[in-house]
Amino acid sequence: MGPWPLDPRGPQAESIAFVYWILFACAVVVLAIVVGALTYSGIKFRDRPGRVAQQIHGSNTLELVWTVVPTLMVISFTALSWNRLNFINDVNSNVAMTVKVEGRQWAWGFTYPDSPMFKLPDGTLLQSGEQLDIPVGQKIKLELTAKDVIHSFWVPNLGGKKDAVPGHVTSLWIQADQPGTYKGQCFEFCGDGHADMLITIVAHPQSEYAAWAKTAVEDAARATSPETKAGRDAFLTGACAGCHTVKGTTAAGKVGPELTHIASKPNIAGVLSPVNQENLTKWVRNAPSIKPGIVMPKFEGQLPDKTIDDIVQWLLTLK
Ligand code: CUA
Repeated sequence: MGPWPLDPRGPQAESIAFVYWILFACAVVVLAIVVGALTYSGIKFRDRPGRVAQQIHGSNTLELVWTVVPTLMVISFTALSWNRLNFINDVNSNVAMTVKVEGRQWAWGFTYPDSPMFKLPDGTLLQSGEQLDIPVGQKIKLELTAKDVIHSFWVPNLGGKKDAVPGHVTSLWIQADQPGTYKGQCFEFCGDGHADMLITIVAHPQSEYAAWAKTAVEDAARATSPETKAGRDAFLTGACAGCHTVKGTTAAGKVGPELTHIASKPNIAGVLSPVNQENLTKWVRNAPSIKPGIVMPKFEGQLPDKTIDDIVQWLLTLK
């Protein structure tokens, strides 16, 4: 059914849907009784010529029924919600792995746990933007924070939503029961790019997860040579990452083309070839002069020449 909370694909989302359906069913029954009684009375006791209404002065039985029944219902709902909330809010027991999540305008960045499985040759940890890969059937704790404004993390098939707040760490857990791709979306208006702040969670069978991690680490390692670190850092912390995606990094922008393998492409943006240092430098300095009307701004004068050179050196490693 797509990203929809009533199509639960994990224990937390199931809990939420369960409470929802019970409350919904009870509300429908109450609505039917109230509307039914109103309609019945309206017809049965309507004004008719010559008829005088019988005067009654209260009924202890009725008073008791409509006090005790709703009270019991509200107490049961409270107990049920309490019980399910304890389960939903329990972010610490039986956690298989903890992923750090950072929301920023306008993308999500994920940092995988500090374990040998996710370690890159340069000692840093595997990161990704927009897409998080998890093993099936395991409880994954997410530690959320934000770089700039409040964002909200929500993957409806897997669990409830949680705010990502600058300067704070909030926690959430998710678990997927079956392999698959689960879509989510930032759920707190956070500026122009809010609608594009998507989340993709890919759940792999447990037996395949280690192999996935190995490939992901190898992919990410390509772009982490110490000689080009300055360029990589400039790219990832600057404007570039807001528009471009480079797999294996937190850059997950959707405005511009993906640059994961830019260095082995035949041309730049279809207009400038080959992809070499000279052309990339020209492009980053002043793309609009080469392809008029393009969204990419000119960075000449905006960024120091050294930074542009560094970025180009890094891009050249993205084979
Ligand atoms: Cu981030 Cu809306």
